[in-house]
Amino acid sequence: MVESPVFTPVKIGPVTLRNRVIRSAAFENMAYGNSPSQDLYDYHVAVARGGVGMTTLAYASVNRSGLSFDGQLWMRKEIVPGLRRITDAVHAEGAKCSIQLGHCGNMTHRATCGCMPVGASSGFNLYSPTFVRGLRKDELDSLVEDFGHAVDLAREAGFDCVEIHAGHGYLISQFLSPYTNHRRDEYGGSLENRMRLMRRVIKCVLEHAGNDIGVIVKMNMYDGFRRGMKREECLEVAKELERLGVHAIVLSAGFVSKAPMAVMHGAMPIKTLAYYMDWKKFWWLKALLFFFGRIMIPTVPYKEAYFLEDAKVFRKAVGLPLIYVGGLTSLSKMEEVLSEGFQGLQVARALVHDTDFVNKLRSGEQKCSGCAHSNYCIGRMYTLEMKCNRCVENLPARLRREVEKAEKRWGSEGNMKNNS
Ligand SMILES: Cc1cc2nc3c(=O)[nH]c(=O)nc-3n(C[C@H](O)[C@H](O)[C@H](O)COP(=O)(O)O)c2cc1C
Ligand code: SF4
Repeated sequence: MVESPVFTPVKIGPVTLRNRVIRSAAFENMAYGNSPSQDLYDYHVAVARGGVGMTTLAYASVNRSGLSFDGQLWMRKEIVPGLRRITDAVHAEGAKCSIQLGHCGNMTHRATCGCMPVGASSGFNLYSPTFVRGLRKDELDSLVEDFGHAVDLAREAGFDCVEIHAGHGYLISQFLSPYTNHRRDEYGGSLENRMRLMRRVIKCVLEHAGNDIGVIVKMNMYDGFRRGMKREECLEVAKELERLGVHAIVLSAGFVSKAPMAVMHGAMPIKTLAYYMDWKKFWWLKALLFFFGRIMIPTVPYKEAYFLEDAKVFRKAVGLPLIYVGGLTSLSKMEEVLSEGFQGLQVARALVHDTDFVNKLRSGEQKCSGCAHSNYCIGRMYTLEMKCNRCVENLPARLRREVEKAEKRWGSEGNMKNNS
């Protein structure tokens, strides 16, 4: 067995994990009918068996209007037994289980969320595309309660932690960002005002979490485009979260509707993305992607631990536990990140590629993930259940060519080396 600080226990609030590796929230698109499924169970149990300290069920919406996918969890009483089945099985494998809670805000469509999409401000969102209605103040009161209620359901379902999604351009992030928040009331304008919804949500979540649930917040270190949030403001957000008493922060960046590759780095596989979309429903989007895909979703160069330099600035500014995410594929890089003062490590793609990744690092069978950053899993996840291209039989030739091209470009660093 390999000895490494990566495999030492760590505490997040009241919860102790057996090691530092947490499966990051990466949308599975397996909650068919907005409910837990056997696929979701199988995947997370496999990740737990594969040796992580904690796995995170991704992107559960706290209410109906916050849904952006049909295959997304929607927190409600009737799904508690299905979730409990997953957390019990994850616990039986020795891992802890977390759930990401959020609201997508303007990034949805009436057909999915059951109403006119809502956001920080009224307007038109090209991403969906859809008209959006700014939330009224009285609606914010019930939204805050929905977060609290979702934490109650998470406890009933046996989760150890909740992760509040305050980044990537979803609703809380839409309130934080001057790009999407044009409100004239006390929720808009100054950063102090733009943080008001987040503050209310976090206070309510902490109250409902009590003494037994760990509270993690995923936030942006920057939005990644000209009129979005910059690092200075995001540092203030991190300090505010520390003051509020959250147990840990996950540091990410990017705005899915505007700069999605700032989150994941590398290239969006445009052909894969378009290929799986329903032609009848999305003919216009397929056509747009075909002609303007590369301009609409620009590539962001990938390198191992691509957020580390930014995250170190946050490490210096706050004292609470920080969880690093972004391009972790090798044991040596994970150790380097921990040596910089980060307490936890989140990993998405390396655990999409191989659920046994952590066990393989620990046994010494591997030093690096075989994930070569084709990002096929991302392009596919918008329409079908999340899967690595290596698990797909009979991949159409043009998608195979796209995968091979991306792997050649982004796969050389961090995954091919050091495995001998
Ligand atoms: C298929 C896929 C789906 C994702 N879905 C989510 C999500 O639902 N919520 C979230 O906060 N981040 C999501 N992400 C981002 C990851 O959590 C993570 O921040 C990012 O992929 C960087 O980590 P990695 O380099 O280990 O993949 C997703 C990433 C992937 C690859
Ligand atoms: S190899 Fe490509 S498809 Fe597989 S997990 Fe990595 S990025 Fe996703």
